[in-house]
Amino acid sequence: MDSLKTNTAHYNDSVVRQFSIMAVVWGVVGMAVGVLVASQLAWPELNFGIPWLSFGRLRPLHTNAVIFAFGGSALFATSYYVVQRTCHTALFLPKLATFTFWGWQLVILAAAISLPLGYTQGKEYAELEWPIDILIAVVWVAYAIVFFGTIGIRKVKHIYVANWFFGAFIIAVALLHIVNSASIPAGWMKSYSAYAGVQDAMVQWWYGHNAVGFFLTAGFLGMMYYFVPKQAGRPVYSYRLSIVHFWALIFTYMWAGPHHLHYTALPDWTQSVGMLFSLILLAPSWGGMINGVMTLSGAWHKLRDDPILRFLIVSLSFYGMSTFEGPMMAIKTVNALSHYTDWTVGHVHSGALGWVGLITMGSLYYLVPRLFGREKMHSVPAIELHFWMATIGIVLYIAAMWIAGVMQGLMWRAVNADGTLTYTFVESVKATYPFYVIRVVGGLLYLAGMLVMAWNVAKTAMSGRAVKVPVVAVNPAHA
Ligand code: HEM
Ligand code: HEM
Repeated sequence: MDSLKTNTAHYNDSVVRQFSIMAVVWGVVGMAVGVLVASQLAWPELNFGIPWLSFGRLRPLHTNAVIFAFGGSALFATSYYVVQRTCHTALFLPKLATFTFWGWQLVILAAAISLPLGYTQGKEYAELEWPIDILIAVVWVAYAIVFFGTIGIRKVKHIYVANWFFGAFIIAVALLHIVNSASIPAGWMKSYSAYAGVQDAMVQWWYGHNAVGFFLTAGFLGMMYYFVPKQAGRPVYSYRLSIVHFWALIFTYMWAGPHHLHYTALPDWTQSVGMLFSLILLAPSWGGMINGVMTLSGAWHKLRDDPILRFLIVSLSFYGMSTFEGPMMAIKTVNALSHYTDWTVGHVHSGALGWVGLITMGSLYYLVPRLFGREKMHSVPAIELHFWMATIGIVLYIAAMWIAGVMQGLMWRAVNADGTLTYTFVESVKATYPFYVIRVVGGLLYLAGMLVMAWNVAKTAMSGRAVKVPVVAVNPAHA
């Protein structure tokens, strides 16, 4: 111990604590809205005839809450934690980091008010009106300054691979947001896109797909590269593979957006480029998954009694599953069947609930006791219970959507010998009903698991205290 060189500085963990707690709170809120919109699809009476409670307004509230409030807060928390530990230094400009916390919460609040009121730019995952977009850009630039500033003042030469992923996520999201949100204001809460026609669609799906690639993937891979080795107590399986994984992934993702616009007015060759790059994307995605899973080689037995590790490893299995399914759906002939159906929604949630949700939960279970000076979470059996509720919930959700999706696609294309359609649209809606009910059950289980987590986190935080951890200058065992 005395060989350790420590100084009096402490890691800035208060902003990490704030973001971690809010990730759990927004997780509960976003998923509760998810269960409500899922119920509205099964029982439309739940729209109550009230405009601000209608499916059309609450759906974007759900997507914004789970992606940007839940996922975003978790990404801020983990990136601030990881960059300090791996750079052996406290955060650069901690007051600016605090600003990013309050700024981001203000963005979320503005979204939670403006979306139910019906203000929208009509671009999926980029619905928020221009004044909120400007606030997002300001907070994001502040985030970049804090993150890259911390890397700039690091005490070790090497930049650990998790930071590469977090860094790419921060830069790419800034670029995507600024380009796609360019618009001409026509009032305080009204604007028109700077692009028109098919260019507008292409810019939107370049944004939309890379929001998946960088917001829902690269940032969470940053979490994977830190928390999986930490929880497993083993080094990353192959550091060389992690570097290849990084460059291949970020290069390929940028070109795959047109797979969202198959059979549209977009030039045919552009659609083929999107399809080709989506197929190539399978390789780096699986390279990353294998790197994460194989980190456990020689320590597989730990999966038996460590529920946190189980969250992390099962999330990687879902990552592998959705990044196999995605390239398949990008093949034009497959997309002709899957597009417009619930198959897409099933794919989204195998990525969102399975990959994004579980890796976040596992990482937060690792973080919370350390942030509050406790050896472990208040209740380990509750983590176990949460794991099973979440896993069964996901399986119910995605299996129901796969069956419903393929069924819808087949019903819509079925034709009689005389060329007329075999089924009316309403018949396909009726046939989907039981699957919508199964989804509600799956969603309720997933949400209930999140409530168990919220209780466990609250108990751990209240019985612990906000500890100050000294910056360790050299020993990576303390990173
Ligand atoms: C309790 C859990 C959840 C339930 C019950 C749920 C339910 C739903 C429903 C009903 C929709 C609308 C589908 C449609 O329009 O046909 C939806 C869309 C969506 N949800 Fe969730 N959700 C949950 C959790 C999540 C999480 C944690 C994430 C992300 C991290 C997420 C991301 C999305 C996205 C991206 C869409 C848009 C999908 C598309 O446009 O194809 N959801 N969700
Ligand atoms: C190799 C990786 C992946 C590829 C090639 C891919 C490909 C696709 C394709 C072809 C679609 C359907 C587009 C359409 O018919 O409109 C789609 C939709 C979607 N995927 Fe993936 N996917 C991948 C991974 C993921 C992951 C890991 C997630 C989540 C974490 C995800 C989230 C989504 C979302 C949110 C949509 C719905 C977009 C919308 O229409 O609103 N994808 N993806």
